[in-house]
Amino acid sequence: MGLTVTEKIIKEHLVVGEMKRGKEIGIKIDQTLTQDSTGTMAYLQFEALGIDRVETKKSLAYIDHNLLQTGPENADDHLYIQSIAKKYGIYYSKAGNGICHQVHLERFGVPGETLLGSDSHTPTCGGVGMLAIGAGGLDVAVAMAGGEYYITMPYIVKVELKGKLRTGVSAKDIILEVLRRYKVKGGLNKVFEYAGEGIKYLTVPERATITNMGAELGSTTSIFPSDEETYRFLKAQGRGRDFTPIEADFDAHYDEVIIIDLDKLEPLIACPHSPDRVVPVSSLNRIKVNQVAIGSCTNSSYMDLMKVAKILEGKTIGEEVSLVISPGSKQVLNMLAQNGALAKLISAGARILESGCGPCIGMGQSPNTDGVSLRTFNRNFKGRSGTPSAKVYLVSPETAAVSALTGYITNPEEYVKDINITMPEKFLINDNLIISPAEKGEDVEIVRGPNIKPFPRNKAMDETIGGKVLIKVGDDITTDHIMPSNAKLLPYRSNIPYLSNYCLIPCDKDFPKRAREFGGGIILAGHNYGQGSSREHAALVPLYLGIKAVIAKSFARIHRQNLINNGILPLIFEKEEDYGRIDVLDELLIKKVLTQMKGNKIIVKNISKDEEYVLLLDVTERQRNILKSGGLLNYIKARSSH
Ligand code: F3S
Repeated sequence: MGLTVTEKIIKEHLVVGEMKRGKEIGIKIDQTLTQDSTGTMAYLQFEALGIDRVETKKSLAYIDHNLLQTGPENADDHLYIQSIAKKYGIYYSKAGNGICHQVHLERFGVPGETLLGSDSHTPTCGGVGMLAIGAGGLDVAVAMAGGEYYITMPYIVKVELKGKLRTGVSAKDIILEVLRRYKVKGGLNKVFEYAGEGIKYLTVPERATITNMGAELGSTTSIFPSDEETYRFLKAQGRGRDFTPIEADFDAHYDEVIIIDLDKLEPLIACPHSPDRVVPVSSLNRIKVNQVAIGSCTNSSYMDLMKVAKILEGKTIGEEVSLVISPGSKQVLNMLAQNGALAKLISAGARILESGCGPCIGMGQSPNTDGVSLRTFNRNFKGRSGTPSAKVYLVSPETAAVSALTGYITNPEEYVKDINITMPEKFLINDNLIISPAEKGEDVEIVRGPNIKPFPRNKAMDETIGGKVLIKVGDDITTDHIMPSNAKLLPYRSNIPYLSNYCLIPCDKDFPKRAREFGGGIILAGHNYGQGSSREHAALVPLYLGIKAVIAKSFARIHRQNLINNGILPLIFEKEEDYGRIDVLDELLIKKVLTQMKGNKIIVKNISKDEEYVLLLDVTERQRNILKSGGLLNYIKARSSH
């Protein structure tokens, strides 16, 4: 039987295990990327591994998240990362060079290679036929040190694209359609592999919009084949030499197949506060818009912004609309500046931000109280914009631009008849903001500002685990809830003690205080706990507060791994109804946990209610040992000392 694109790349990189669906495998990682928000911690962990030089083909450290400098903290972090990069053999992309995923796609993505990034939208590079996966910082640190990365051998969903998109309908609408069908937890342990005649009409940046936002499905990753279109993109980036064709065999086996008829697709919109609350734009009647934000790693490519410039050309944005645009990279911004499109955007009234994440992560441009913000981004979780009462909708650049003009959520098909933007034959190439590492790292001094604090380390697991239930939360709690990230907190990414004052406060403002008062305890959660960003802080901060276990109905993939990497037990209810029997401040006790962990069922006693529940510990042998060791770092250290 033939192989899918995903299987072909996994087969080339398989180090541990067999390619059997649902089983754990270890794969070799060719490239890594970090961004500053998760990077400082990843590099502190890399230092703790005691390796002299990265062992990947290429590793990149980007600065794109924390660009607001309202104090010295961000600038200190940037210097720390820059010095680490120089010392250990990592390329450093300076602030202003752009968003990690956009720049990586432009300058470094290679078809057929593997990429591990400490950011959940790393799958963006799947647009160029790379197996690109988001992970916690420690996993990325281990990959930089030459260690394999472990995943569950994924189930593969074929997304067959038929026909061609109509004018006004875009790649964003394709991924919104997939989210409408699969929802935010529908992609667990799955890879979404795109195929069909429709893909040949999609440029690599359009494909990357789709693979980027595939992260919202909770999937392992998303990927396109590497074909003529991939070659055209790489050649235009001056990297034709990086091209390798990869397509699925005609008799490849897929676990699921879905078909999207592009001719029939219409502009879609994700309503507050989840990327899967997708409806047709045409079904929302005249909702007034206060803010339009165009950019982010999902929709900030040259072609995206050229479309926006064309729609806005010679016009003025609505009187009550604030339009902000953050180009995805220096390359994009530079090209818009050179061809005059930037002037058109400015003329129409757009506020131009620097090339970075900006409003996507709440770093500036928070909407007004109760405001409606229309964004081309990938996430609209409550409060992520920095304004808890804001209603954030996710749309394509076309819908965003047209709505910025009318002042209402508007179907672009009504206004846009022809926006024929083609991919340039040659992009503007200038890598002067990418700093190469030192030939020899020994003499490079690491710069550690006062904001760089040690990170918490767990100890080997005790025979008895217990404590009070400190909080009880519902379904779909995001890492933004667990460890909020906004303009106020992002500068403290390398300062866990400071961040611990804000853990889970969007759910319960007294949680940090309670956790301290009881010396730690247990978190109780519903389905899909920890969805969203890859941020490891959502495990490190609870660890710092003494959390021993999280008991949930189900977990999101990356967060579950981050809990394991930090020695926190991720337990699942065997009977979901038991969730309803446990209350906040109930005292739970797990006796003989090390013995119980030999199997996959763990009995927990609720001392307050004199009841017992059966919990499932769904882990591999390797993960079991990581948990027993008190986390991945202890596990690796113990292995290397043997
Ligand atoms: Fe940045 Fe937002 Fe993407 S924070 S990496 S632009 S999801």
